[in-house]
Amino acid sequence: MDYPVLLEAAEAAARATTGRGHVADYIPALAEADPEAFGMAVATVDGELYGVGDWEQPFSVQSVSKLFSLALALAYSSDGGEELWRGVGREPSGNPFNSLVQLETEHGIPRNPFINAGALVVTDRLQSLTGDASGAVREFLRRESGNPLLDTDPVVAASEAAHGHRNAALAHFIASHGNLQNPVETVLEHYYAHCAIATSCRDLVLAGAFLARYGVRTDGTRLMTRSEAKRINAVLLTCGTYDAAGEFAFRVGLPGKSGVGGGVLAILPGRAAICAWGPRLDQAGNSVAAVTALDTLTTLSGCSVF
Ligand code: DON
Repeated sequence: MDYPVLLEAAEAAARATTGRGHVADYIPALAEADPEAFGMAVATVDGELYGVGDWEQPFSVQSVSKLFSLALALAYSSDGGEELWRGVGREPSGNPFNSLVQLETEHGIPRNPFINAGALVVTDRLQSLTGDASGAVREFLRRESGNPLLDTDPVVAASEAAHGHRNAALAHFIASHGNLQNPVETVLEHYYAHCAIATSCRDLVLAGAFLARYGVRTDGTRLMTRSEAKRINAVLLTCGTYDAAGEFAFRVGLPGKSGVGGGVLAILPGRAAICAWGPRLDQAGNSVAAVTALDTLTTLSGCSVF
């Protein structure tokens, strides 16, 4: 695949979406992002790295971090994830990422690990397994990307906490059903801390490439079995972009995870990790420019999981 040519075409298509969508502002600190920024990067399983535009510029990882918290919670669990999957489902929710409605009728067990409710449960289990859930995510991202400066942005974390009524409501509701092992305050603190990590397309493709390598880390060691990596990719495909997961599969055809910082990390199993970033979001909370760029890349190359 001629990645430099594909990235150039993807960037042109993404830049043509200028003006469409809105920068997230329900977390006030995110509203300061440059709406016209755009970057994209590819890391292949053979160690090649390509980028265009603002691919090395840090942005708020937000929900893309949920991919890593899930992977680590599964990797560290000693029962193949059985306990974790009792507390969180793996079905698309068809609802917005911060919705509360299904929890009430579904006994405090969130539909999947990528909606906010499910990610809170995953953060809770990772906290039980490691004693420092956000630190575990940060350390993994640093190691895989080789970027020792990668860190939580305290201003974004504080902004999330100050405006986190919905997440607090979700966490308390889940706790009322006995589905949290740690205090609500601890879970929220670590959840905000991993969502508020500042990272770039470059860092994210390097950190996400373990899924393209079927579970093998940058240093050649195995984080998880091939079957576990397949399972994460499957949940990414069906739930990673929330109530737009069908549309994302239709357009892009890859497992992927979006965040309200505007990043989308997608996996081409056996070949590469691809990340695109643009802060303007559509109604489902997915980046307009990033989804367009990924759509262009898979459409032009003919490479997807289908
Ligand atoms: O909890 C929140 O609302 C944010 N920290 C993360 C939400 C998010 O990124 C949803 N993704 N599109």
